[in-house]
Amino acid sequence: MSAVNNTFEHVKAVILSAHKDTTSRDKVNFYNSWAENYDQDVAVLDYRAPSLAANSISSHFSGDRDAAVVLDVACGTGLVAKQMKSHGFTHFVGIDGSEAMLRLARESRVYQDLKKAMLGEEQLPVQWDLFDVVVMVGALSIGQVPAGVVRQLCKSAKPGGCICMTTRSNHENQEYKAILERELKQMEEEGLWSCVEVTEVADWERAVSKEEEGYISGAVYLYKKL
Ligand SMILES: C[S@@+](CC[C@H](N)C(=O)[O-])C[C@H]1O[C@@H](n2cnc3c(N)ncnc32)[C@H](O)[C@@H]1O
Repeated sequence: MSAVNNTFEHVKAVILSAHKDTTSRDKVNFYNSWAENYDQDVAVLDYRAPSLAANSISSHFSGDRDAAVVLDVACGTGLVAKQMKSHGFTHFVGIDGSEAMLRLARESRVYQDLKKAMLGEEQLPVQWDLFDVVVMVGALSIGQVPAGVVRQLCKSAKPGGCICMTTRSNHENQEYKAILERELKQMEEEGLWSCVEVTEVADWERAVSKEEEGYISGAVYLYKKL
């Protein structure tokens, strides 16, 4: 196990080392090496995306939470499912490309099923039209998962189900965010889903790049499958 060193400067250096990586596989390898310290490091960053996504889902979900099946895509160590559990959801399936992150998710005992998949390279390994809630937090951004994967998120939800996604709004991620939003809108025009709410959040997480200071902003998108 790695030594605990979770000062902000240390966490910043860890994250900036990953920004040099270019391919999705490099990124997943980075998460394999970061997994053990991930939860404590993102706490230092004041990473609020899991709770913000869970709040958005919770305030619009009108079904039976105990019976609902939630698909957590890019689940990491399980922070999103833990937040959703506190809102009364109990049944979770998780998917991630990093074996080390999946191991920690497994140890959390929050998920009934966990699967490994490289998003963008292979299809989501799930049945389409099945899930009451599909959530993807912290992985739709430059250098991680291609924006086009949101089509598979929509396919995996059941009609009437909700799909929640997040992205960062900082300088480095602007182009990715614009591509993502074009895809979300295009899918709405195709009649695949309707937008329930978009929440822009100013204090998303602490900034780590040289160009930014304080907090960067981010966005939570909530859609309903038609
Ligand atoms: C910032 S973490 C977010 C984890 C969790 N959703 C959370 O909010 O704490 C990003 C996760 O996406 C996964 N990931 C990144 N790119 C991926 C890809 N192309 N395929 C599968 N998983 C990927 C990483 O392994 C990591 O667990």
